[in-house]
Amino acid sequence: GYMLWNKQIVERNAENTLVSFQDRGYQFGDGVYEVIRIYDGKLHALDWHLDRLFYSMEQLSIRAPFSRTEINQLLKELIKKNTFTLDGKLYVQVSRGIQPRDHVYLEELEAVFYATIDRFDKPVDMWEKGVKVTLQEDIRWLRCDIKSLNLLGNVLARTKAQKNGYHEPLFHRDGIVRECGASNFYMIKDGEIHTHPANHYILGGITRKKVLLFAAELGIPVHEREFAVEELHDADECFLTATPLEIVPIIQIDERPINQQQVGETTKKLQQYYRKRVY
Ligand code: PDD
Repeated sequence: GYMLWNKQIVERNAENTLVSFQDRGYQFGDGVYEVIRIYDGKLHALDWHLDRLFYSMEQLSIRAPFSRTEINQLLKELIKKNTFTLDGKLYVQVSRGIQPRDHVYLEELEAVFYATIDRFDKPVDMWEKGVKVTLQEDIRWLRCDIKSLNLLGNVLARTKAQKNGYHEPLFHRDGIVRECGASNFYMIKDGEIHTHPANHYILGGITRKKVLLFAAELGIPVHEREFAVEELHDADECFLTATPLEIVPIIQIDERPINQQQVGETTKKLQQYYRKRVY
C-alpha cells in the first residue's frame, strides 16, 4: 500500500519513511494528530477533523505545513491511490519539525507530517456487548483539548486498565468525571444525557459533537456539565464515543454493573440513529 510522507505519496515501507533522531515529535511528543473514520472508502466528517487539526496546531504555534485545501486533496489522493473502498481509519500526524534538541523551539521550523490508512471493521461485538471501564485519577496535563502526540498519561492509564480487564480508564480529576483514555464519556439519567463540557479538561470529540447533534434531533435532553464521581451511582446507562468505535455501551464501572450489564434503551436508540445518519 501507499502512505503520505510530507507531500509525497510513497510506498508504505520503513526505508521510505525514516524519521530524524532530531525530530521534535520523536524527542518531545511535540506534535499533533487526527484519527479519521473511513466508511466505504470515504473520509467521514473530514471538515470537522481538519478544523480540529488546525486548532491543535494553532494552540501549539506549529506552522501548518499545508493549506486546508492541500491537505484535503492529499488525503483524498491517498485513498484513491490505495484504491481503498472498505471501512477503515486514517491516521495523520504533524510534528513540529527537526532541530538540535532544545526545549525551546525555533519559530522558523518546517513541520513534518505523514498519513496512513488501515482497514478497520465496524466493532459490532462491542456495540452489542458493551465494555467495562475503571476509574482512574486523571494525571494528564491541563490542555486535553489539544490532540497532541504527547499521550503518556493516556498510554499508562489505558495499559493499566486493559491489564486489569477493562477496556478504558474513566478519568476523574478534583472529584469530577472527565472522559476515558481515548474516548468521551456519557451518563444517562431519567432519559437525559449528561456529559462533560468541551473545555480544556477533555478532548472535544468529533463523535461527541455528532452524538449531541443527533440527541437533539431525537429530542433527548443533553446537559453539558461537570458531575461528581458519586453521581455515577445514579446512572441508568453509560456509554463512550470515539471515532473508530462510534457509540459503545458501558456495562460496568469497576465492580459495579450498570443497567444489569445490558445495553440500555436510550443507548440503543442513539446507536441505531447514529448509523442511520452516518452511513
Ligand atoms: N482518540 N478523548 C480522547 C482522550 C481521545 O483520545 C479521543 C479519540 C476521544 C474521542 O474523539 P473523537 O470522537 O474525535 O475520535 C476523546 C483517538 C481515536 C485516538 O487517540 O486514537
